[in-house]
Amino acid sequence: MAVVRQAATLLMILGLTLLGPVACTGSAPATKPAPTPPQIRAPAMAAPSHLPQSARRLLRQRMHRHGEAMNELMWAILYLDYERAEALGAEIAQEPRLARPLLRDATELNSMLPEAFFIAQDALAQQAAQVAAVAPDQDAKALSEAAGGLIDACLSCHAAYLRPPAQP
Ligand code: HEC
Repeated sequence: MAVVRQAATLLMILGLTLLGPVACTGSAPATKPAPTPPQIRAPAMAAPSHLPQSARRLLRQRMHRHGEAMNELMWAILYLDYERAEALGAEIAQEPRLARPLLRDATELNSMLPEAFFIAQDALAQQAAQVAAVAPDQDAKALSEAAGGLIDACLSCHAAYLRPPAQP
């Protein structure tokens, strides 16, 4: 399944080698501080040529948390911390969304974005809710699949954002 492969790839990027020893020891006793996940700095995203800098700045402010949340979520999954994975999934699912243009709070920024952006935004919330829903089952495979669906939503939106709109 493509989604599972993507999740596996991301997990590998984030350092799958850590999974072995951690998975064997189970969750840490409450007295020990949680291990600090290695800090991973995401490379800068390419700039979309069709959007003004001001729009980009606004969007980046709103989206900034995604990278952090995903980083934390991936470590929660790697460390089999289902409770944390559930909380992070719920947090991403509840993020305020940009309204589609034509709705009451439409702004100039909203109308510069393609429909695919808003579809991906909804998919993100849905997939994050799915992560939160499966986490309590403590089934590593199901959680990995849900996380793969979440990554799909991230990619779909970045693709919609970076691609210039089709010429009329
Ligand atoms: C609804 C659209 C959308 C979704 C869904 C989305 N992103 Fe983004 N993301 C953006 C936009 C727009 C930016 C701003 C890019 C820029 O700097 O021009 C961005 C920026 C980022 C950045 C760079 C932040 C920074 O401060 O430079 C990261 C990392 C990132 N996204 C990760 C993710 C991850 C991980 C997910 C999935 C959990 C995700 N995004 C889902 C639209 C989205």
